[in-house]
Parts: sequence; C-alpha cells; structure tokens
Amino acid sequence: MPDSGSPGLKAVEALGDPRSLPDPEWIRQLTGATAEAVDAVLTEVDGLVELEAGIRARHLEGGRTDYAQFRAPFDVYAIVRLLGLSELVETGVSSGVSSAHLLLALRANGKGTLHSIDLPTAQAGPRLEKGESIVSLPPGRATGWAVPDALRKGWDLHLGPSQVLLPVVLRSLERVDLFLHDSLHTPEHLTFELEALRPKLARGGVVLADNTEWTGDAFERFARSFGVPLRARGGEDLVGLRVPTAAGPGRARASSAHRPRRAP
Ligand SMILES: C[S@@+](CC[C@H](N)C(=O)[O-])C[C@H]1O[C@@H](n2cnc3c(N)ncnc32)[C@H](O)[C@@H]1O
Repeated sequence: MPDSGSPGLKAVEALGDPRSLPDPEWIRQLTGATAEAVDAVLTEVDGLVELEAGIRARHLEGGRTDYAQFRAPFDVYAIVRLLGLSELVETGVSSGVSSAHLLLALRANGKGTLHSIDLPTAQAGPRLEKGESIVSLPPGRATGWAVPDALRKGWDLHLGPSQVLLPVVLRSLERVDLFLHDSLHTPEHLTFELEALRPKLARGGVVLADNTEWTGDAFERFARSFGVPLRARGGEDLVGLRVPTAAGPGRARASSAHRPRRAP
C-alpha cells in the first residue's frame, strides 16, 4: 500500500478505483519530466477530490460499480499537464473517465480541445445480464454520462464507429499531441487507428493504447517504426510511446507528416 501522503492518493480514493493509483515512473518515462515535477502535478490532482467524488457518485447512480473505465486517469492528466499538450484525440469513451481527466488537464493548461469518438452499446434492461458488455450504457445514460457538466463546454464528442469517424476527425485537425486508443481492442482495429493517426501525430506527441494484451504486436510495431521504446504502465498492458522531437524531449509541436523508419 502506498503511504497516505502519496501524491494522488486522495483523488484515487475519491474516485473509488484503486487501479487508478498513478505510476510516477511511467509518467517520467513518457514525459522526460523530473521526479519533482511529476510529484508536483500529482499533488495538484489531490485538489480534485470533490470532482472525483462526483464522478464516483454518478457511476453508483448508474446502478453498477464497474463500467470498464480507463485505469490511468491521473497519469494521463499528468502527461497532458507536464507537456502542455493541447490537441487531444481519444477513441472509446463509455462513461467518460478518461475524457473527464483529459478535459480537466486542458482546463488547467488553459488551452486545447479534446476530440472523442465512441460507438456506444446499451445495456438492455435494468441490470447487466450475463453476456452483456461492462462497457455498455446503463438505462437512460448517454456516452460520457459520468463527465461533470462543468467540463463539457468545448468537448468535441462524436458518436459512431471510429472506423468511419476517426479519419474525418483527423482530417479536420492540423496535428495531434496525444492520442488514446480505448475502443475496439483487436490487432486490425488498433493498427487502423494508429496508421490513420500517423500523418497528424506531432513531434514530441504521446500515443497510448489500453488492453494491448488483445492487440498482438500492433503497438510494438508502431513504436518500432519511430525507433522509440514501448513503455508499459507497471508492467501491465496499458502502453505508451513518445514520438521523438527533432530537438530531444520537450513540448510537443506541430510537424508535417512523419517519415517513419521502416519496421524491421
Ligand atoms: C473500455 S470502454 C472505454 C472506457 C473509457 N475510455 C473510460 O475511461 O471509461 C470502450 C468504449 O469503446 C466503444 N467502442 C467499441 N467499439 C468501437 C468502435 N469501433 N469505435 C468507437 N468506439 C467503440 C465501446 O462501446 C465503449 O464505449
């Protein structure tokens, strides 16, 4: 157990998901930030207790305790804050845990937009029955239903399959500073999303993918094509990479299309 003074622990307790305890080492690997800077931003997270308790309350009102929500909301918050990122894209929203924390980080940065894509499925009855997915929406709820109202202004949320919508959204953007894949976890689909993203990915940008135990070597191949290591959070299958910058680690900046190294 982390000691009670660990930065971020209060927010984790308020959200009620022990898996969400941030991994400072993973954040350092992906951002190049010092341990002190990571601690400082995670301490900031502890100021969000009220908001986290609100998300938890909405989840409980939804009638279930588990919505397969993203396990590293505070880590992504810290990454966006530490690198000052502004153009964010995610696929897979469900109740909106990842979305809420990306929106919070943009608010704290004072700039930027989150573009989210989700193809919702709905729980058929009042209870989740055997065979139904834990990502499905409880009755009367819509995609992103746990995102606090105060964060919704300016959120660019699209409903439909990312197979169709991701290329459309990406066409409208000059660059992407951070991409989070948390939608359909198959090797083909992850490869599709990563290759759609590639031409818009900023130098110094960050790419994250959850549940890669189901997506073969799709992410690893993508990392190899940039010549950068794949970073796994706490040895789990939530992984990330940082696209190289021309001038070494630092703030993400706009770039034209990348010329990736050919995968061996
Ligand atoms: C694991 S959940 C996302 C969890 C979310 N990131 C969070 O923090 O709570 C996966 C979501 O992706 C959606 N999804 C599944 N296939 C999709 C597709 N082809 N395009 C877009 N969204 C999809 C699911 O309906 C579900 O809402």
